[in-house]
Amino acid sequence: MNIKDLIVRAARKEPVERIPVWLMRQAGRYMKEYMEVKKSYDFMTMCRIPEVASDISMQPMNVIKPDAGIIFSDILVPVEAMGIKVTFEKDHGPKLHNPIKNMEDVENLKIPDSEKDMPFVSESIKLFIQKLDDQKPVLGFCGAPWTLASYMIEGGGSRNYTKAKTMMYKEPKTFELLMEKTLETVVNHFLAQIKAGASMVQMFDTWAGCLSYDDYVKYAFPYQKEVISRVKKVSDVPIALYINGCGNILEKMIETGADVLSIDWMIDLAEAKKRVGNKVALQGNIDPCCLYGSPEFVERKVKETIDKFGKETGYIFNLGHGILPDIPVENVKILVKTVQEYGLIS
Ligand code: CP3
Repeated sequence: MNIKDLIVRAARKEPVERIPVWLMRQAGRYMKEYMEVKKSYDFMTMCRIPEVASDISMQPMNVIKPDAGIIFSDILVPVEAMGIKVTFEKDHGPKLHNPIKNMEDVENLKIPDSEKDMPFVSESIKLFIQKLDDQKPVLGFCGAPWTLASYMIEGGGSRNYTKAKTMMYKEPKTFELLMEKTLETVVNHFLAQIKAGASMVQMFDTWAGCLSYDDYVKYAFPYQKEVISRVKKVSDVPIALYINGCGNILEKMIETGADVLSIDWMIDLAEAKKRVGNKVALQGNIDPCCLYGSPEFVERKVKETIDKFGKETGYIFNLGHGILPDIPVENVKILVKTVQEYGLIS
């Protein structure tokens, strides 16, 4: 079985020998190896040193053994290159020190050239591919314009997105220029990662699920679609799109042109499959909190999820959001192993 292109074949709905698996945030705080490295560096520094970032990417490859690796970075790395200082405070998530307040702030933002301004990302991908002996695919990723703009305006995570939505409704010109500049940044960043060797890329519009249907269609969807069509003009690497809380917009997401829709756990996978038909592949979608259950529970949940989709191509096993910091690593190993054994297609 060729693992190097298993995920790519599943994403394109080509024949596969079994269902592939990788996990969002597969490198991170639930691993003791990661916590060891984290003693020596702050988060953004780990992202900026290719030797360190690619070592961290390798940690889950050695311990949980998924079918793809994802490059260790963050969706806010390009935001910093645009000119906003980003730090991660212990247990408080990201902090953006000079958030966007007005047109002047947006005008001052730079559209970075990923290869020149974030060379460490491409370098990390190349090193990671070498460390994997090119035996497994490496995934690249980027935030989508809405999610990145919301961080830039809010200055960090948010519950109601009041500042971002205020700008969206009250200062449409400012908001639009911010989205346009972010769009350019995102396209450029995807292309650099693909050039460095990424086999598939995922766009995280994590917080687009907090928009009303009409606002999704007006403010997030067109930018997702534009990013995807611009990347597709130059590359045939499959593109996955993740939105947390996407149950209401699933059919619309297909029109973005994404190859894979990465779905959260609030939708039933069998239902999602019916709704998307054979237009796109699906990725997901167990609740990350299932990994707090017993090993038997995890195994049963994985099998039930696979049965909901059926043992067919067009499906990539994943969680419905990232792994949480205190999840037992043993359960993560069981999840991966169960998919790799139970997901065989006869
Ligand atoms: O998936 C992976 O293993 C690859 C690396 C990756 C990280 N962040 C590393 C990370 C990826 C793909 C991301 C994406 C990301 N970052 C998203 C979209 C996906 C999602 O989870 O919704 C978002 C919204 C961010 C922004 C971000 N970065 C937040 C909100 C946080 C804090 C969250 C928390 O759990 O504390 C981060 C920090 C972050 N990014 C960590 C990791 C491993 C934890 C940092 C630490 O070690 O303290």
